[in-house]
Amino acid sequence: MPFYHKLGKIPHKRHTIFKKPDGSLYYEQLFGTIGFDGMSSNLYHEHRPTQVKEIKGSYNVAPKIAIENNLKSYRFKGFQVVPAPDYLESRKAVLTNQDCTIILASPQNTTQEYFYKNADCDELIFIHKGSGKLRTHLGNLDFKYGDYLLIPRGTIYKIDFDDENNRLFIVESHRPIYTPKRYRNHFGQLLEHSPFCERDLRQPYELETNDEKGDFLIKIKKNKEIFDTVYATHPFDVVGYDGYNYPYAFSIHDFEPITGRIHQPPPVHQTFETDAFVVCSFCPRLYDYHPESIPAPYSHSNIDSDEVLYYVDGDFMSRNDIEAGHISLHPAGIPHGPHPGAVERSIGQTETEELAVMVDTFRPLQVTEEGMKIADDFYHKSWLDHKHE
Ligand SMILES: [Fe+2]
Repeated sequence: MPFYHKLGKIPHKRHTIFKKPDGSLYYEQLFGTIGFDGMSSNLYHEHRPTQVKEIKGSYNVAPKIAIENNLKSYRFKGFQVVPAPDYLESRKAVLTNQDCTIILASPQNTTQEYFYKNADCDELIFIHKGSGKLRTHLGNLDFKYGDYLLIPRGTIYKIDFDDENNRLFIVESHRPIYTPKRYRNHFGQLLEHSPFCERDLRQPYELETNDEKGDFLIKIKKNKEIFDTVYATHPFDVVGYDGYNYPYAFSIHDFEPITGRIHQPPPVHQTFETDAFVVCSFCPRLYDYHPESIPAPYSHSNIDSDEVLYYVDGDFMSRNDIEAGHISLHPAGIPHGPHPGAVERSIGQTETEELAVMVDTFRPLQVTEEGMKIADDFYHKSWLDHKHE
């Protein structure tokens, strides 16, 4: 996260004596990424954050691959993912590669019994349905429909949901997720031509500090295993921190679309980047205003990337028969484009209400068994003049 944040109480100098009211010490932890080269924060704990009591065991959560090498376009009906009471059990990996995993989840209950930490990946959670509070050891964030929650690897968290009706689109990334570099200046500040700025990014505002001792279960995901790890102190025991490494929220509704006289390419919708994939937000906007413009996109060969589009809301002009909660996968290697009739019906239209999230991966995606449960196996023929011909 490329700007500084401070929450709670911290000493005047880092790595110096910082005393509790009773005269004993607070315990410092550098919470960093990419060795000592990436974003980091300095945390001050009530207790030493290292007190592992027991590692009770582990279980494998690697996605089960159904299609290893894929050239077929697919549609997945995301709302067919069956809701589950538990947050972690509700997460169903649909697509995956070495760099990232795309997950759909419909959790019904607030996480009660455990804390969760993903030690492998940053997590980007898009809230399609539901609202509540993300609670972390670095402070809390309220969320609602349309929010992206960016949770850096190593963040210990729980999620409180306001009710049982929740739909999440999650990208787990082995590579750090940043805002696009081309929108930032040398110092990291978002520039004037960026479709959003620091004011739109919400930082944690509420630090929960518990000094309890006991048995605290943290489910730690590492190398596709979840380790049930019992700590002797409460994971939320931070009294303060400062730095650049913390979770934050950004609403897709705060993305300001970039439009033009003729069709603008997908990078104008870019919201996040990694060195293995990009994330774009397609938001309600005015269409191209050249008198002879064709607002529908042209067919394109994304020869170097698999394209995943998650449809959130509105009317998806270029697609026939696509509904909210659907995912389309247009794999690298073959061209794709508007469905039959979509180019013609786009002419003369002035605006769109579409809302969608796109993930373009630079390495091919594999389709999982969970993905195939909700797959439309005929979608790849949907560009024929007569469907299913
Ligand atoms: Fe595309």
